[in-house]
Amino acid sequence: MSFVREAVRKMEGYIPGEQPQEEGYIKLNTNENPYPPSPRVVERLIEFLSHSSLALYPQPLSDRVREKIEKIYGFPREWVMVGNGSDELLNLVFRVFAGKGDVVAYPFPTYTLYRTLALLQEATPWEILFPDDFSLPGEFVTARANLKILCNPNSPTGTYVPLGEVENLLRRSSCPVLVDEAYVDFAPESALPLLSRFPNLLVARTLSKSFSLAGLRIGFLFAHPEVLREILKAKDSYNVSTLSQIGAEMALEEIEYAMKNVAKIKSTRSWVIREMEKMGFYVYPSQANFVLVRRGGQDLRFLYEELKRRKILVRYFPEWPEYLRITIGTDAQMEILLHSMREIIEGVA
Ligand SMILES: Cc1ncc(COP(=O)(O)O)c(C=O)c1O
Repeated sequence: MSFVREAVRKMEGYIPGEQPQEEGYIKLNTNENPYPPSPRVVERLIEFLSHSSLALYPQPLSDRVREKIEKIYGFPREWVMVGNGSDELLNLVFRVFAGKGDVVAYPFPTYTLYRTLALLQEATPWEILFPDDFSLPGEFVTARANLKILCNPNSPTGTYVPLGEVENLLRRSSCPVLVDEAYVDFAPESALPLLSRFPNLLVARTLSKSFSLAGLRIGFLFAHPEVLREILKAKDSYNVSTLSQIGAEMALEEIEYAMKNVAKIKSTRSWVIREMEKMGFYVYPSQANFVLVRRGGQDLRFLYEELKRRKILVRYFPEWPEYLRITIGTDAQMEILLHSMREIIEGVA
């Protein structure tokens, strides 16, 4: 494969979580929402398909979605870009801000896609370990880099850095700082209010988690209009399908429906954390729709495998064998999970 760029040949591809095609799994491995989206989203899609044609291209800049965003988040359309999931927007940010030999810094462990995107650019990922309390590493705050990424709340830990620390990071950084807020609706505060004061801030959001629309592929990038103008140069002309735009518009109109599901998930999260602690797990303090657990230094592959055999999927990362990341599902799903975990652990003991 000598005709493939060396940088690509040498790197590992990003490995997404399993998406089983078989029915019947309790799926707690990729942080999807266990509740369906507002029924009005589905109704709107069906209505659209029965009256309109897919023969035409979609709006290039998802104008009507941006109008809804303006109403909800208060940012005029020049401050927002809509993407095919926030992964597309992360991709664009790396392409625009990180070239060959540049340095991309981020606290680690985190979403490993950042490493993949940096390596594709032939940029150097600078992975700075979080301290034990998961506050921002000082070295990250003062790092000289071409791009800084902060996943907040962070995956896979679920931990959250308060806004004051994010503000300090922005004050100390002259490069662009992307805050990936895929899970922020499950956390106390967003960095969006800092946007008007810091032109180097970019904030990525998604409808995949809190709005139960991972299958629709919709993400938003908020940034200063001059910054977005540059990023738009790298965007596909028709990056968001007509159906995704129609669904996103209705989902935003139904934001209260989504926020009720968020409240339910947060309350399930508190109960699940307590139950797991009773079983002897250490549960990282989570402000997301998942928890990261460990049990001393035990390799948890056995638990992942036995749960999978029982058709419960959680996330096991071979590079971090002492941890499992578990999405918060419905109360009924979590009852089954907790019961199975108890049985498996007692069986092993
Ligand atoms: C931290 C983080 N950022 C971004 C994404 C991608 O989300 P989207 O579905 O919007 O592409 C994920 C998905 O799991 C994620 O965990």
